[in-house]
Amino acid sequence: MEETRTKFEAAGQGHVFRWWDELGERSRRRLLRQLDAVDLSRLDEMQAAIAALKTPHQRNLSPAPAFGLADENFPYLLNDAARAMAPQGEKELRDGRVGVLLVAGGQGTRLGFDGPKGCYEILPLTGMTLFEVFARKLIRVGREYGKTPPLYVMVGNHNEAATRNFWEDHEYFGLNHDDVKFFAQGEMPALDDDGKLVMAAKDAIFTGPDGHGGVLQALHAKGMLDDMRRRGIRTISYLQVDNLQTPVADAAFIGLHMSEGAEVSLKVIRKNEPGERVGIYCLDDGVPGIVEYSEFSEAQANERDDRGRLKYWQGSIAVHLFGVDFLMRLVQKGTDLPLHAAHKKVPYIDAEGVEHQPDEPNAFKFERFVFDTIPMASNVMCLEVPRVEQFLPLKNADGPHGPDGVRQSYQDFFSAAVEAVLGKKPPQIEVDPAVAENARDLIEYLKANDDAKSWDLSRPLHIKA
Ligand code: UD1
Repeated sequence: MEETRTKFEAAGQGHVFRWWDELGERSRRRLLRQLDAVDLSRLDEMQAAIAALKTPHQRNLSPAPAFGLADENFPYLLNDAARAMAPQGEKELRDGRVGVLLVAGGQGTRLGFDGPKGCYEILPLTGMTLFEVFARKLIRVGREYGKTPPLYVMVGNHNEAATRNFWEDHEYFGLNHDDVKFFAQGEMPALDDDGKLVMAAKDAIFTGPDGHGGVLQALHAKGMLDDMRRRGIRTISYLQVDNLQTPVADAAFIGLHMSEGAEVSLKVIRKNEPGERVGIYCLDDGVPGIVEYSEFSEAQANERDDRGRLKYWQGSIAVHLFGVDFLMRLVQKGTDLPLHAAHKKVPYIDAEGVEHQPDEPNAFKFERFVFDTIPMASNVMCLEVPRVEQFLPLKNADGPHGPDGVRQSYQDFFSAAVEAVLGKKPPQIEVDPAVAENARDLIEYLKANDDAKSWDLSRPLHIKA
């Protein structure tokens, strides 16, 4: 204890021992265990991240190249080059060289749901959960290519047990147990406005998940990269658990990623208004990367090209492909992704030991972002995808990205496909993700299914495998 105390005092953080004398044996052990896991050499990096938040550095931005859509009208068409490369992606899937990485370690604060976001019942008729949607999409890929990609799910300490139990209780939704791996990301402490570690209790400092960028260290530390290597996986399809409509393993995207020799690829959508709150793919001093919307000046966000379209149009939907060798190289070099600070409401105890749930931001939290790997890649590929087809995130308690808004957009999208073939929209619709994941698939399925012509479209329509 003395050694730890000396270290913390030397770093100006001696207050973490304020209640030591009144703590029982167990509490003391708990506090020491937690403090020993804190890397105090990171304090400078945390302070630098706070400074960068307060005074962002001037960026020299320009638009980045991307493969645009071939047809922007329903049912949409990906870029010709992507479609031409689909057979290469299909082969990669048939050869079992693709793994799926789902990040689900966030706290889902904005949704206000008390549990892992993946357990949220989202589909409109059956209430199928996000996790099951992803599992059924994988089943479809397995049926189509004869190999089901293994699924790696990143969780946080706060939701690991609940997530594992949920999958186990549902028998992995029909996936092979050995092909679903959970691993927990790391944690970061928070600093108050005076640069002191925030105390959550007399025997605990506050810590929170270290951001989706924590995936890099966690994949390595928890043996997931080795598992991928053992399985012969070359490409990781990275997805966020909140995006209901994203394909889990898109052959055209994978094929183009490979033919372009990319180490990282990303999907973007055309921003629908200058201020839309998505990260923007662009060049910063000529280097590709994602710049958060908050770092664009209003004038910059509003800039237009000769055709009157937004100059910075490439909104990231946080869907990526990563080369396994590329990630391996980063971790072997000991690469740290940059730390980002955010001023947030962090529960704490004050010097008198009284607990507070602040109404206003009171401390800095720290996260790493997975897209900060982009500037480190020797080659990056960016593909435009149709918004309603592939970007439908559940983020908030209400509004277009709340449960009702998401269910509405989902139904509008699939009923348009039904109307295109059967001439009429059902009042409600749900499509089993194992049947079709986009309008083109559904249109094809309906055309090939003679029974469809006799369906009663005056009632809710549930299309299932
Ligand atoms: C994110 C992106 C934004 C993009 C948008 C698309 C950032 C900073 N911004 O915004 O550029 O346009 O998605 O939807 O990422 N997660 C973890 N561990 C963590 C934190 C998050 O696993 O420590 C996971 C969450 O479970 C979720 C995903 O990462 O699946 C997104 O996290 P969130 O913080 O909600 O991102 P956004 O701010 O919505």
